[in-house]
Amino acid sequence: MRDRRRLRQGLQIGAIALCAAPLAHLAARAAGWAEDLGANPIETVVHTTGDWALRCLLLCLAVTPARRLTGLAALAPLRRSFGLAAFAWACLHVLAYVGLDQGFDWPTLVEDVSKRRYAFAGLTAFLCLAPLAATSTRAAQRRLGRRWKTLHRLVFAAGAAAVIHYAWLVKADLRLPLLYGAAFAGLVALRGRAPRRARAASAAPDSIA
Ligand code: HEM
Repeated sequence: MRDRRRLRQGLQIGAIALCAAPLAHLAARAAGWAEDLGANPIETVVHTTGDWALRCLLLCLAVTPARRLTGLAALAPLRRSFGLAAFAWACLHVLAYVGLDQGFDWPTLVEDVSKRRYAFAGLTAFLCLAPLAATSTRAAQRRLGRRWKTLHRLVFAAGAAAVIHYAWLVKADLRLPLLYGAAFAGLVALRGRAPRRARAASAAPDSIA
C-alpha cells in the first residue's frame, strides 16, 4: 500500500518535472544563463510554448493506453497532470502571441482569428481546453456527475484542433505536424479499441479525458 503511494507520488513528480523543465530552460535562455533565444526571441517563445502545449496534450491522451498496456493503475492520475500542464503551456503560448507578438492589439487579433484559419483552429483548441482545466477538481466532478465525462471528451476536439492549427500554420515542411497528427490518431484509435469495461474503468476520478 505504501509502495503504491510512493510509486504514484514518484510518477507525479516525474510528470511535473518533465512538463516544467522546458519552462525553466526557456527562462534560463531569456535571462541569458543558457544559449540565447535566437535571432527572433518572440518567435522562439511562441513556438516553444506551442510545441509543449501540444506535447503535453498528447502525453495526456497517452496515459490511458499506457495504463492498459502495463496494468499500472498508478499511471491514472497523470492524465490530470499532463492535461493541466497542456493548458498551462497553452495559456503561456496565447499570452506570448497576444502580448509579446501582437502587443495586445485587439482589433488586429480579432482580424487574425477571423482571417487566418490556423489562428481560428488554435483558438478552438484553447477554448476546448479551458473548460477541462476549470472542471479538473474533484468538487467539479462531483457537481457535474455524468455530464463531467461527456464534457471531458472535449480533450479529443482540443487535440484535433491543435494538430490542425499546426498543420495549417507551417508553410513548407509538413513532417512534424503530420507526425503529431499520426500520434494523435494512433492514441485515439488505441482508446477506441478498448473493451467497454476497460473504457468505463479508465474514466477514473483523476481523468481529464
Ligand atoms: C488563441 C489560440 C492560439 C493562437 C492565436 C495561436 C497562435 C500561434 C502562432 C501565431 C504560432 C506561430 C506561427 C508562425 O510562426 O508561423 C503558433 C504556433 C504553434 N501553436 Fe498556437 N496558437 C493558439 C493556440 C494553440 C494551442 C491551444 C496549441 C496546442 C495545444 C497550439 C500549438 C501550437 C504549435 C504546436 C505551434 C507550432 C510551434 C512550432 O512551429 O514549433 N497553439 N500558434
